[in-house]
Amino acid sequence: MRLDVLMAVLIAVLGVYLVRLVAYTMYQIFIYPYFASPLRHLPGPKDHHFLIGHSLNQFRSGNPNQPYVSWMRQWPKAPLIRYFDVGNSDAVLVTSLDAHKEILHAKAYSFQKPTFFVRLIADIVGFGIGFAEGEEHKKQRRALAVLFSPSNLKAYIPLLQSKAHHLSSLFDRIIETELVSIYSKITLDIMGVFALGLDLDDLQSRNTGSTSFQACYHEIFEPDGLGQMLMAINGIIPIRWLPLRANRRFRQANKMIRRQLTDIIQDRVRTVGASKATGLGCGEEKIKDLLTFMVAEKYYAGSDRWTENMITDQVSGHQTTADALTWATQLMIEHPAEAQRLRTEAVDLLHRKPSPDYRDIESLPYLKNFTREVLRVQCPGVNVAREATHDVVIQGVTIPKGTTVLMQPAIIQHNPTIWSPDCDEFKPDRWDHLEGEAADPWAFSAFSHGPRVCIGQALSMLEFKIILIELVSTFDFEGIDDTRANEIKLINPSPMLRPDGGIRVRVKRAK
Ligand code: HEM
Repeated sequence: MRLDVLMAVLIAVLGVYLVRLVAYTMYQIFIYPYFASPLRHLPGPKDHHFLIGHSLNQFRSGNPNQPYVSWMRQWPKAPLIRYFDVGNSDAVLVTSLDAHKEILHAKAYSFQKPTFFVRLIADIVGFGIGFAEGEEHKKQRRALAVLFSPSNLKAYIPLLQSKAHHLSSLFDRIIETELVSIYSKITLDIMGVFALGLDLDDLQSRNTGSTSFQACYHEIFEPDGLGQMLMAINGIIPIRWLPLRANRRFRQANKMIRRQLTDIIQDRVRTVGASKATGLGCGEEKIKDLLTFMVAEKYYAGSDRWTENMITDQVSGHQTTADALTWATQLMIEHPAEAQRLRTEAVDLLHRKPSPDYRDIESLPYLKNFTREVLRVQCPGVNVAREATHDVVIQGVTIPKGTTVLMQPAIIQHNPTIWSPDCDEFKPDRWDHLEGEAADPWAFSAFSHGPRVCIGQALSMLEFKIILIELVSTFDFEGIDDTRANEIKLINPSPMLRPDGGIRVRVKRAK
């Protein structure tokens, strides 16, 4: 065939391809959503941009839970609200308990973590159990169950108590402090022992510069304004390769964490290997930390070479616990009568038993109410998102394959039809007389539910309670300004409910 004929054929083929691509894109953006989508009859907002969906509205709202909570209140009876994502693609906000149960439990494996979410979060924590799917996910959950078992967790109580005392000794030396950073240090320290079997000793590492684990985590989780923007955009289009300072700092911090973890892992592999070689075993019967467990059980079994992602996945749980403590302290400041009741209960316990055990801690009714109410009103985890892996019927509506479904704990926990019209108020006593849907265990969704329920729930509740007992029995906190929890500027967008710039408080010994 002559060259000019070949070129003409190629141009014609390319032309047809381009025309089809443009036609398909136009159909997807302007025709399918309005005339063909099975979701088109669902109620929902229309004030989006056809290219970027509601991203701008979300960004402008200043709150990672918005505009979703306002939509839930605008359509209080709708179990599903349809909104538009990038390129007019379909997305569904899930509002009713029944719809949550179908998606997170009955049909859990018809959904997986959405691509944008994997890019947004896995970019930070890596691909551990949080991003495993299907059979692989079930296998990892089964393998880790022993670590999160009550007997293993009970063995951590002395460690948690000693870290809480350590925090007290720090508070004793200061008059004024910022809460997020100090709580992040202690919870990271605890996770260091739980995940790595190492005392990261980060509470003392404030002056060690950017090489500390804590400093790297800070860089990744609390980027500056541009860093936050890049994190959000990266969820839609991968842009971490762009030669920007914020990207370089992010990559550098990630590299540092990975390097430190690799060293620790290699060291552990050697130690466990040496113990096995001498026939002394590696003390499996006493294994408490994640890394030793993984190395002993998996690495040498040769089946799975779990990576440091599994560790970062767990360690990243420290952030949410730190946020829970931050909001708890802020709410104690705002509600002195409730703080006093908590103190009376804690002081009474410590008077009876200076080193309370698991049963003592779990038997404190007001502490239980208080901690659940903190996690209901100021829930640290913002998003539980999924993507349909095939067409699936939820509440009688066909959710097409690929549709994003969003289940924010705040949508359930700030829903007046579930929690009554005073749902935004902090009232720990409400837990003593729950009625209607509020009495359904699914109405408390801070840790989500179903096969992907937070694996660290029991550990983090134990940690939360032990640190609160120590703090409330020892200190009084006072806000530096009068800003209330719901007025505090938040990091946005963010996968966590976290004050932008932290919260500064005054600390003094309780009388
Ligand atoms: C107050 C503290 C915490 C809150 C509010 C919280 C919340 C959540 C939520 C809502 C999920 C479900 C995410 C989803 O399905 O998309 C989750 C999953 C998870 N959490 Fe937590 N978490 C907390 C603490 C922790 C801690 C301390 C750890 C580690 C020890 C941890 C480890 C995990 C892991 C590994 C998953 C993934 C589980 C899976 O996919 O099977 N979390 N968490």
